[in-house]
Amino acid sequence: MIPNLLFESIIIFATGLVVGVLGTVLLRKKAPKVSRGAVLIDASKVAGRGAFAKRAIREGDIVERCPALEVTDKDIGGELLNYVFYGSAENKRLVAMGYGMLFNHSPQPNVAYYREDGPTGAELIIYALRDIRKGEELYYNYGDDWWSTRGETCE
Ligand SMILES: C[S@@+](CC[C@H](N)C(=O)[O-])C[C@H]1O[C@@H](n2cnc3c(N)ncnc32)[C@H](O)[C@@H]1O
Repeated sequence: MIPNLLFESIIIFATGLVVGVLGTVLLRKKAPKVSRGAVLIDASKVAGRGAFAKRAIREGDIVERCPALEVTDKDIGGELLNYVFYGSAENKRLVAMGYGMLFNHSPQPNVAYYREDGPTGAELIIYALRDIRKGEELYYNYGDDWWSTRGETCE
């Protein structure tokens, strides 16, 4: 009687283990890349993560609307300094939400951005400078100052 119970327990435990491992593997394979709207986040061709076109985008189309928070430069330090945009004054910085802070730099950008101040606050609007193919990485131009003030070099 007891050996039977032990055998059944082992079978139940082993089945649970197999189902758990298989489930984890299958779910991991099926997990979609992080995306929303026209933008997909994936490994960049130039640095870390980057933003990619999830579908073909036409010149002039809005790629991403980022709600943005304007703060003073005192609120920003360390690595975060590399992720924020210039604000409405010398000492202001704009923290762009959504995927706005994950676009990499290129001297030949395919997107650019402008700021819009609406009734609910600031937004950073990223739009296509030309037709963009599905799968292309999306870059805006950080500007020469950006690199010279950080001592970093770009790809
Ligand atoms: C706003 S973040 C962009 C997202 C970043 N790649 C990530 O993985 O989080 C800016 C940082 O990306 C890197 N970066 C962006 N464009 C680059 C380029 N063209 N060449 C080298 N590094 C770049 C720089 O290290 C910079 O500090």
